[in-house]
Amino acid sequence: MAAEPVTLSETLIPSGVEPDLDHIRARNARSVWHPMAHPGVHQANPPRIITGAEGVYIEDDEGHRVIDAVGGIWNVNLGYSCTPIKQAIAQQLDVLPFYSAFKGTTSTRLIELADRLVGVLEPEGMRRAFFTSGGSDSVETALRLTRQFWKLAGQPGKVKFFSFKKGYHGTHFGGASVNGNDRFRKSYEPLLPGCIQLPFPSLYNNPFGIDDIDELTDVCLRQIEQEINYQGADSIAAFIAEPVLGAGGIQVPPPSLWPALRTLCDKYDILLIADEVVTGFGRTGSWFGARAWGVKPDMMCFAKAITSGYFPFGALMLNERIESAFMESGPEGAIGHGYTYSGHPVGCAAALATLDVTFSQDLPGNASARGEQLMDSLKVLQSEHEMIGDVRGKGLMVGIELVADRESKTPLDPQLGEALADRVFAAGAMIRVTGNIIIMSPPLVITESEIDSLTQALAVGFAGA
Ligand SMILES: Cc1ncc(COP(=O)(O)O)c(C=O)c1O
Repeated sequence: MAAEPVTLSETLIPSGVEPDLDHIRARNARSVWHPMAHPGVHQANPPRIITGAEGVYIEDDEGHRVIDAVGGIWNVNLGYSCTPIKQAIAQQLDVLPFYSAFKGTTSTRLIELADRLVGVLEPEGMRRAFFTSGGSDSVETALRLTRQFWKLAGQPGKVKFFSFKKGYHGTHFGGASVNGNDRFRKSYEPLLPGCIQLPFPSLYNNPFGIDDIDELTDVCLRQIEQEINYQGADSIAAFIAEPVLGAGGIQVPPPSLWPALRTLCDKYDILLIADEVVTGFGRTGSWFGARAWGVKPDMMCFAKAITSGYFPFGALMLNERIESAFMESGPEGAIGHGYTYSGHPVGCAAALATLDVTFSQDLPGNASARGEQLMDSLKVLQSEHEMIGDVRGKGLMVGIELVADRESKTPLDPQLGEALADRVFAAGAMIRVTGNIIIMSPPLVITESEIDSLTQALAVGFAGA
């Protein structure tokens, strides 16, 4: 049945008046389709309406105040009360709310940010910043500029992309094509041709039944090399990977994987793209995921925590090899790619403030310390609850794999996982469950006692299982 027409005045919440939350809920059910949700199922199970936030806490329309162990969605690294970011945004809105960075114009904050990022990423050899509006945009930019790079480099046949099974690279057609999770692929096929997903060495749950990480890593690397030879190195443009797989269930590679990937890419002249949309800016306990593994990628994709979620923003960083191919090219080196909001001045101001606070508070250091504290508590919980098959993580990227049976590692029914998340919420923490895996990525400003509160909420949730 068609919805009744809505008049303009009906859609507005009059200022200064307490909003009528039932009315807002009904409106949500009537008018909104949510990302990553089934519209019908979501209508039957309405979402929580988040009405406010402070520090690492969020509040909902029913008056719950809980620790946000999701950190927005991997992005609110500095928590919800970061005055320097809010002030930077407000000031920038006064000075210049927008100007385009397309050919012929730029803005001062954009220049400042590009310089800062190139400086911060000097150890990785990054030379240029190309700004975007988010993670999927940054990945799309990486894939498109990779294709252009190889054309400029006189090898136009290098067009294919390799990535990992279980990898997640956003939802644009390019990113979806390199994704390694059928949940994000099947409904949208046909995707980009020439995208090949290869096995990732997931120790807990691998299809080879191998339980030695070195042996497993060797097997995966051998498969990658065989596939390179099978496809032909002269057809492969790049390998794109997350330094720690996030949405794929927090899969932490062994320290040898990234250096070995770099070696393989060098051997066969394939670009290495680090998708740092989640791992960038401290989440794993290092400033960048690639830095944690001691590897210099050719490109690095950023978004999310680059502005701590206060403004939709992203960046692709490029090294000297890519830079010089474009700089030394003829007209075919013109970049036919970009977004209206590439380098939005307000986003640049937010990113600069975020960088300042991340440095001054050594948030990667806190992520490392608090991550260890959380992992220690989770190991204790694991010893008490059979349904915790595995706990794993790096810094404040932490996952709990829920199983129906430890021996067979049969995944727990996702509905039981959802019920667990509800109990944890009632006990004081928001967690996210995807399939049978709890994913946690709290703000990096979280304190020792707040981690204790989070652990207590988890313990209450598991005790009710
Ligand atoms: C590794 C990775 N890449 C890309 C993306 C896409 O980012 P966005 O949702 O900002 O488009 C995500 C989102 O979670 C991600 O985790």
